[in-house]
Amino acid sequence: MTHVLITGGAGFIGANLVRRLLSARPDWKLVNLDLLTYAGDLSWLADLEGHPRHVFERADLAERAQVDAVFERHPIELVAHLAAESHVDRSILEPAIFVRSNVLGTQNLLDVARARKVRRFLHVSTDEVYGTLGATGKFSESTPLAPNSPYSASKAASDLLVRAAFHTFGFPAVTSRCSNNYGPRQFPEKLIPLMIANALADQPLPVYGDGQQVRDWIHVDDHCDGLLAALERGRPGEVYNFGGECELPNLTVVRTLLRILGKDERLIRYVADRPGHDRRYAIDCEKAKAELGWRPQRRFDEGLAATVDWYRAHQEWVARIRSGAYRDYYDRQYGGRLSPGGGAPR
Ligand code: NAD
Ligand code: DAU
Repeated sequence: MTHVLITGGAGFIGANLVRRLLSARPDWKLVNLDLLTYAGDLSWLADLEGHPRHVFERADLAERAQVDAVFERHPIELVAHLAAESHVDRSILEPAIFVRSNVLGTQNLLDVARARKVRRFLHVSTDEVYGTLGATGKFSESTPLAPNSPYSASKAASDLLVRAAFHTFGFPAVTSRCSNNYGPRQFPEKLIPLMIANALADQPLPVYGDGQQVRDWIHVDDHCDGLLAALERGRPGEVYNFGGECELPNLTVVRTLLRILGKDERLIRYVADRPGHDRRYAIDCEKAKAELGWRPQRRFDEGLAATVDWYRAHQEWVARIRSGAYRDYYDRQYGGRLSPGGGAPR
């Protein structure tokens, strides 16, 4: 049995990856390390309780002793590192938490994994480390890092620490950088689940600025396929971009969701733009296709409709989240900005 550590396995992508790996690799035992912040939710994995090949370990990556203890208990050979503070808007409100978990947390994990001589370490990063694009062009793996938000700066810092571990110590680390994921179980602070949840509740849909910012959308299952390929076949020291080859302005995504849900476009509210908002992301993922034999397979229209169905079927889960501490965040982020009447783009 190969012991594989997944950090952040109670989060959106991590939980989807846990399920993918359990079915795809019957000889892998998964050690799921997660702090269970506001974004982690074990109820998603409740059916795995007692599963012989999945064990959950609550630990904080920023506390080195807690990471050591997990490696002491399990003979970890492979690591997929996903745990992070992941939301740009929260990083603008409270940057220091992002440095603690994403930078210090990654360094602690690197140190312990190196001391324990793991065979392969996959660092899961983001296209946001490249900054922003104008009307043309795509990010390739050699695009210089130019992060613009506290979140992306903390991820870029962690990418550089991983790079340093490879160059200085020969540590077998691979880095992946992916575009915007969507799919089931995403925390409803991110664009797509937030818009679905608000529309289902007939509440205003806050679109930042003019809504013409472009993101490249990838289904979480396509990302997870890429992560498995990079973990098994990625070359140490290399970076691999993943993207959905599906660039869309935010407003198009929001309007499509309203159409699927049969809701009125008058629910849209144009609110003040996100500070430092990156205008456009686009990903060149030819390297992953050529070297890993990977490509995105899910169509956005089908994936989005299935995602809407998932949120429709899990309204209780969404309501539970939105009634708790989420309320304070929502009021801090949007309070006073969602006046009735909509209005023109800002
Ligand atoms: P998420 O916020 O849904 O989940 C993150 C998980 O990490 C949570 O379960 C949380 O409890 C855990 N965590 C946070 N701090 C921790 C700490 N100090 N110690 C242990 N666990 C901690 O995030 P996600 O959207 O699933 O993203 C996962 C990873 O993928 C992140 O590294 C993110 O930067 C990267 N990524 C995300 C996207 C996307 O579109 N969501 C795209 C590209 C890359
Ligand atoms: O590109 C990969 C990144 O994608 C990941 O690294 C991040 O972890 C993930 O959160 C995501 O970052 P974004 O900032 O692009 O995602 P978000 O869903 O927050 O926003 C998507 C776009 O929608 C962005 O242009 C901002 C806009 N937006 C978002 C929210 C929450 C709105 O217009 N209104 C909103 O209320």
